[in-house]
Amino acid sequence: MTDRIAEIRAEAEQAITTAADTPTLEDVRIRYLGRKAELPNLLRNVAELPPSERAATGKAANEARKALEQAIEQREKQLAAKELDARLVRDRVDITLDGDPAPHVGRLHLITQTRREIEDVFVGLGFNVAEGPEVETVYYNFDALNHAPTHPARLLSDTFYVAPVTDIFDPDAFLLRVHTSPMQVRAMEQQPPPLYIIVPGRTYRPDNDATHTPQFHQIEGLAVDEDITLADLKGTLLHFARAFFGDERDVRLRPHHFPFTEPSVEVDISCFNCDGAGFLRDGSRCPLCKGEGWLEVLGAGEVDPNVYAHVPTTEANAPGYDPEKVQGFAWGLGVDRMAMLKHGLPDLRIMFENDLRLAEQF
Ligand code: DAH
Repeated sequence: MTDRIAEIRAEAEQAITTAADTPTLEDVRIRYLGRKAELPNLLRNVAELPPSERAATGKAANEARKALEQAIEQREKQLAAKELDARLVRDRVDITLDGDPAPHVGRLHLITQTRREIEDVFVGLGFNVAEGPEVETVYYNFDALNHAPTHPARLLSDTFYVAPVTDIFDPDAFLLRVHTSPMQVRAMEQQPPPLYIIVPGRTYRPDNDATHTPQFHQIEGLAVDEDITLADLKGTLLHFARAFFGDERDVRLRPHHFPFTEPSVEVDISCFNCDGAGFLRDGSRCPLCKGEGWLEVLGAGEVDPNVYAHVPTTEANAPGYDPEKVQGFAWGLGVDRMAMLKHGLPDLRIMFENDLRLAEQF
């Protein structure tokens, strides 16, 4: 019997060493150590052997089983390591290869970038952003903003009316807003003071030259509260000028006229090209400010009491805008003009030509 055990053991050992992969090794294990295999069977039946053979057979069979179990375990480790190596080679990813070229993501238009930059400055000061309709009524665009019937901007040659226009003095006639100022009265109708808003948006005028396009962009500002003075306006715009054009900038107010502000001012900033000197280091005249040292950037003023008179007190804005109690300032600036100035563009119209050579520079 022990001969037979030695035979099985030798045969199994051979099969274990030659098993080429783990599934084959598992077959070998079942063949020699499985429930129906000869060796375990032998072990189970030792008791039935003649007493003289029992001890030797039992010992040899036990040893053989242990030896085979060990051999299988060892071979299993070897094969697993070999198979892992093979898999690593097969699944190899060369991470040093270039990836696909990055998709072209595009960018925001310079005007959008500029609008957001300006909005950020005023939002930082506590202003809210409000938007209004581009197709406006004569009432909000002119009448409510204190424009006399004779104001030249009302002419067909100065404003795009929306057809059919039978009467340009009809307060309900439609036009493309010539400025963002109509939102002043619309916003006051909607909420009580204190009111701090900016109004970015498209505006329209029948002009077309290097510094004017039929459609352009403005940002209106309106602050209404108690005791608001021209000094507050100047401080606010000085902060804006420095945030947008640099810390060195200064602002100056010049008397002007707008129908809806009293007093009205034009606001200049010290020229950032020559630092306000009017001439460059080589002594030549500054081409940006044309030797002035100042650049005109926007119109502004203290809100005319006649504008508050166009804001009826309603449930929405109670207690309303009593010109005896509230004061405010307003301004209107051209977004396109700001971008043009800041980036030295020679002609406003190129911003609307969709030429990628321009768009990709910003
Ligand atoms: N609406 C004026 C324009 O388009 C600009 C302006 C001037 C707006 C003075 C204002 C202001 O709010 O107070 O020319």
